[in-house]
Amino acid sequence: MAKKTVFDLDVKGKRVLVRVDFNVPIKEGKITNDNRIVSALPTINYLIEHGAKIILLSHLGKVDHKDPVKCEENKKKNNMAPVAVRLQELVNTKVTFVNQTRGAELEEAVKNLNDGEIVLMQNTRYEKGESKNDPELAKYWASLGDLFVTDAFGSVHRAHASTVGIAEILPSALGFLVQKEVECLSAAIDNPKRPLVAILGGAKVSDKIAVIENLLKIADKVIIGGGMSYTFAKALGRNIGTSLLEEDKIELAKEFLEKGKDKLILPVDTNCANDFDNPTEIKVFEGDIPDDFMGLDIGPKTIELFKKELEGAKTVVWNGPMGVFENPTFAVGTIEICKAISELPGAMTVIGGGDSASAAINLGFKDKFTHISTGGGASLEYMEGKVLPGIAIIQEKD
Ligand code: 3PG
Repeated sequence: MAKKTVFDLDVKGKRVLVRVDFNVPIKEGKITNDNRIVSALPTINYLIEHGAKIILLSHLGKVDHKDPVKCEENKKKNNMAPVAVRLQELVNTKVTFVNQTRGAELEEAVKNLNDGEIVLMQNTRYEKGESKNDPELAKYWASLGDLFVTDAFGSVHRAHASTVGIAEILPSALGFLVQKEVECLSAAIDNPKRPLVAILGGAKVSDKIAVIENLLKIADKVIIGGGMSYTFAKALGRNIGTSLLEEDKIELAKEFLEKGKDKLILPVDTNCANDFDNPTEIKVFEGDIPDDFMGLDIGPKTIELFKKELEGAKTVVWNGPMGVFENPTFAVGTIEICKAISELPGAMTVIGGGDSASAAINLGFKDKFTHISTGGGASLEYMEGKVLPGIAIIQEKD
């Protein structure tokens, strides 16, 4: 059965609580990447055009409620006010920011909403009960609305009061962003056109254990690059110099190599430096890396190998950069792979959020993929084959 979407709701004149993921990077009060706000606009604009009274809820960063000093610092840092400013620039209606997550001011602002207007409340994580899915908090937030829409794909892997708790109480539906994310990820993971090639990178094997396990089952090839490839190289008995190593994951890497056999593709050469912060020598090594060098990017032969393995792919999922792409010297592998994926004829290409999504966007490939996910953890959990609680709770179509 399919989940209800915004189209299935009669929103005219109704108070619609919308959980969005406006967890955006902010530096000195300025948003440095508004992609997540822009991605929620189709749902927000639909609700504006259809006369809903819109109440937006989002978390921003983390708030440590155990340590009172840290709690205050976190709240100061993760204030939603700059998000409201940016949102007001992007929509053609009045946005009222309420510096509260509960109380008279919030209730009054909701009461005063005209059809098609927006209230954005303060960071949901100012509330201690948010991350625990506190039923009393969910009940309070639910009392502010008539309907609930989830459009926070980046947060659907969290069973929090604003993602799951409210949906347990109010009639609910998926927003357009979550609907699109699920359709794309499902087409790539659950029902892929083959060959399906997965490319995994990023720093640690430990972050991707469940993803590697699941993709080894369902993909035709699993290509591994980035920091985590050095633990695999070690497992193959290679010298990896001072490269990133997870000693306690060597055995696991051996198991994956055993299970994956020819399906698992690893780098054959590495672009290395003698120092991370102040490299004075940069060299490519095939196979073993000398003791005083560290691997920071895949080498040219690996780029060619990965490109060859990608040839003919009909579905590609990519999660994790191939090297330290923030440093232009070590961005070549990530750029070349990004380019190769984006140029595959007729292939469905999906980037699973996080660093690889930022890399693709920053490197100018934003429109060159079928889909770039807005959720890091959420898309990883989808690729792991896990149920996402913020989606599972949404009502099925009648
Ligand atoms: C993200 O940035 O991945 C989402 O906004 C979720 O944030 P969280 O990991 O703090 O729950």
